[in-house]
Amino acid sequence: DGSDFIDSLMNEMTLEEKLGQLNLPSSGDITTGLANSSDIASKIKEGKVGGLFNIKTAEKIKEVQRIAVEESRLKIPLIFGMDVIHGYKTLFPIPLGLSCSWDMDLIKESAHVAAIEASADGICWTFSPMVDVARDPRWGRVSEGNGEDPYLGAQIAKAMVQGYQGEDLTDPKTIMACVKHFALYGAIEAGRDYNTVDMSRIRMFNEYFEPYKAAVEAGVGSVMTSFNEVEGVPASANKWLMNDLLREQWGFDGFVVTDYTAINEMIDHGFGDLKHVSAKSLEAGVDMDMVGEGFLTTLKASLEEDKITQAMIDEACRRILEAKYKLGLFDDPYKYCNEERAKTEIFTADHRKKARELAAETFVLLKNEGDILPLKKNAKIALVGPMADNRENMAGTWSVAGDFEKSVSLRDGLEAAVGKQNVVYARGANITADSLLESRVSVFGKPTYRDNRSADVMIREAVNAAKNADVIVAAMGESAEMSGESASRSNIEIPQSQRDLMKALLKTGKPVVMVLFTGRPLAMKWEQENVPSILNVWFAGTEAGNAIADVLFGDVNPSGKLTATFPQNVGQVPLYYNHKNTGRPLAEGAWFQKFRSNYLDVSNDPLYPFGYGLSYTTFEYGDIQLSSETIGMDDELTVSVKITNTGKYKGAEVAQLYIRDMVGSITRPVKELKGFKKISLEPGKSETVTFTINEQDLAFYNQDLKFAAEPGAFKVFVGTSSREVKEAEFTLQ
Ligand code: IFM
Repeated sequence: DGSDFIDSLMNEMTLEEKLGQLNLPSSGDITTGLANSSDIASKIKEGKVGGLFNIKTAEKIKEVQRIAVEESRLKIPLIFGMDVIHGYKTLFPIPLGLSCSWDMDLIKESAHVAAIEASADGICWTFSPMVDVARDPRWGRVSEGNGEDPYLGAQIAKAMVQGYQGEDLTDPKTIMACVKHFALYGAIEAGRDYNTVDMSRIRMFNEYFEPYKAAVEAGVGSVMTSFNEVEGVPASANKWLMNDLLREQWGFDGFVVTDYTAINEMIDHGFGDLKHVSAKSLEAGVDMDMVGEGFLTTLKASLEEDKITQAMIDEACRRILEAKYKLGLFDDPYKYCNEERAKTEIFTADHRKKARELAAETFVLLKNEGDILPLKKNAKIALVGPMADNRENMAGTWSVAGDFEKSVSLRDGLEAAVGKQNVVYARGANITADSLLESRVSVFGKPTYRDNRSADVMIREAVNAAKNADVIVAAMGESAEMSGESASRSNIEIPQSQRDLMKALLKTGKPVVMVLFTGRPLAMKWEQENVPSILNVWFAGTEAGNAIADVLFGDVNPSGKLTATFPQNVGQVPLYYNHKNTGRPLAEGAWFQKFRSNYLDVSNDPLYPFGYGLSYTTFEYGDIQLSSETIGMDDELTVSVKITNTGKYKGAEVAQLYIRDMVGSITRPVKELKGFKKISLEPGKSETVTFTINEQDLAFYNQDLKFAAEPGAFKVFVGTSSREVKEAEFTLQ
């Protein structure tokens, strides 16, 4: 494990050099990938830098690594990180989209492809996966996670870690993963980014921690702290989180890095001055300080004042060196800087093919009245909307290494599929008429393209384009930067400029298909009530336009299922399927009952529930067959359901298994996902899907935070969404 090597290296190191290993500056400009400052170069020479991030290309990284291993006293290589979140140059759909594929093999493959491309370009460490469970679509970062369910989130966390890290981290085609943001970032109040989090430990353990823990169990090499506080202590100085839970309880043996300047931000949290918060952070178990240099500049003084110990510094330094050792950087500091690989393994036809395939699996068909979809290939299409001819916005948030011009827009995709002669394009509307909002959602500093003609003129042009068309395809929704970091919204509807356009399009009487671009669940009751066909495509990455065309024309039958509830309106938020029953639940199917838990002005129903998604075909679920109606603690229950494709098309279906623990020592959710299977069926064919349930699946963290199952009655549900299920009962003895 390199411990002898690391011991002898650490014997040589001065205190300053040890602190240097804990320092992670950013190289600067993330869009050009240039290491921007000579200041960083001189710090590297002095041994004051442990790693760098936001620098890319084998050539540039090689040069910076050369400074470290040739010009610093101990020649310790740097670790190079980057936000490789959903692909590197070949971009896959945003994580929220990926989660809707419910396809763990493809998700793992996407991380593997990202690792191949990033590692070919000098990067050996990614700040991914982001696994924060989130129930509030106002928060822009829901786009970066896997939705609202801890069980599904855990499966995805595992798949991503395995995809990035492979079997062997010394393999030059793998990179180290960093699970983030530890912890509970997805539970910030009111969906306002960086806001406060406060919740009971029972809720943390039962509803939020599972994905982080799964990443640790999958061997994730590093963990990133979150910006928020947990139980009143900012996560980056929270000893209970980092030390007691992560390391001691879960056995994490990698290193912990803060989020960007998270140590310094504790000053604003009201937790102390830089010296104090830096000492607290180290003491809590943080090893690497991203950007803020609190560790670099204050820990020596704190050591002299006995606020921290030498052992704490040594431990942090050792963990960073261990990570570099695991990556093989001491054997060959240039192993990820292979210009030949960079030329042949990035943005390859094969990677793009995979991105196209996976993207099509993430799309969720929300509505298809009158079977407008799939479209006929000889149909005349009026393609309208601000997202139609918009390569810049296909990639989605956190596409740091992406080359937006190379993305396939919807217009590109449709024209490639059916020829230019069949597609008449008109923009029809700007993303929003609110210029303030527009100026705040620039794509990496580049303002969203705006058409300066009046709304009326643009709408008229779109309506004219529709006159000779058989069908209108309206590409609408949010632009990419309307979700993501620092992109919270209090209004989660489609902007009025686009709704006005949609109204005019509907008036033409032509069939309308809305292709919805979004990074979050939207409140789109009006669209659900008025637009006949809606295909949600998230932000699908490099191959977006081709993948959308594949689905619109029926070459691929949509099979995505929502992993986050769409509310009817923002006032219902947070709205999630695995809620508690309360002491005053509404009667089944009721809209409003006095003195029950509900609203005067909106029902408790979601617009689209968790797990929901239509297909061009239909699936029928048979009754649930249980292997037994009673099981003991050591038994396994088998749950089988026959699923039949009753429609005209071949299609894939995600069968979902939920349980409900009817009585508990603490109250239990009305449903909890505990299994899922994605199957593909030809029309008329059936398959029996079988799940097994054991004690672990029925267990939860009780009031003593002990994970145990309790005997008693359970319900089990299997169905096509969290709302449309068959049910059966069994008893655990
Ligand atoms: O990895 C990210 C994190 O998710 C948000 N703050 C910045 C980090 C590094 O870019």
